[in-house]
Amino acid sequence: MKKHTLILVASLSMGFATLYSSCDNGSKDKAEAESCTPLNPNGDSERALLMREMTRLAEGNAEALRKGGDLLPYDGEFEKLASTTGTMTVDEAFFKAMSEGYLVHLRELYKAAPEDRIRIHNNLIQSCQDCHAQTCRGPLKRIDKMIVNI
Ligand code: HEC
Repeated sequence: MKKHTLILVASLSMGFATLYSSCDNGSKDKAEAESCTPLNPNGDSERALLMREMTRLAEGNAEALRKGGDLLPYDGEFEKLASTTGTMTVDEAFFKAMSEGYLVHLRELYKAAPEDRIRIHNNLIQSCQDCHAQTCRGPLKRIDKMIVNI
């Protein structure tokens, strides 16, 4: 074979390899698991939007507790978590059970005496970690930083 024919063959097979890997479902699932944001032509899901609000509250509370300040206001909005629709495919029975774990800590946090808040806040963050470890691991790095050292 002439040299330029070899180059042609090599680049063609590389092209096929790229085509093949971009259609590979394994890597697509992995990307979804990392980001929690699968391709969604209809925009952000109700569940993703609620998660962003939950993140804002948890990060705000972590910062306030580190400074010895008061908790951020919370109006009970996250009670609807289990009935939201998401873009990620998850086992809904599992999601519901894990959501309830998170909500138990959240209700407890807002009733707690100030000296118990850091401990309960950390339990709440643990419930974010537990669900994310089994659904999408992408936000875990950010979630880990919400733990308040005692
Ligand atoms: C019951 C399981 C569960 C719990 C508890 C949970 N998450 Fe999520 N989270 C998910 C799932 C599933 C998604 C993907 C949402 C979708 O399908 O659109 C997600 C998405 C996210 C996202 C990405 C949102 C976006 O912009 O797309 C962030 C950030 C996040 N969660 C942070 C948190 C934090 C912080 C907590 C705790 C305060 C938490 N999550 C608790 C399951 C959970």
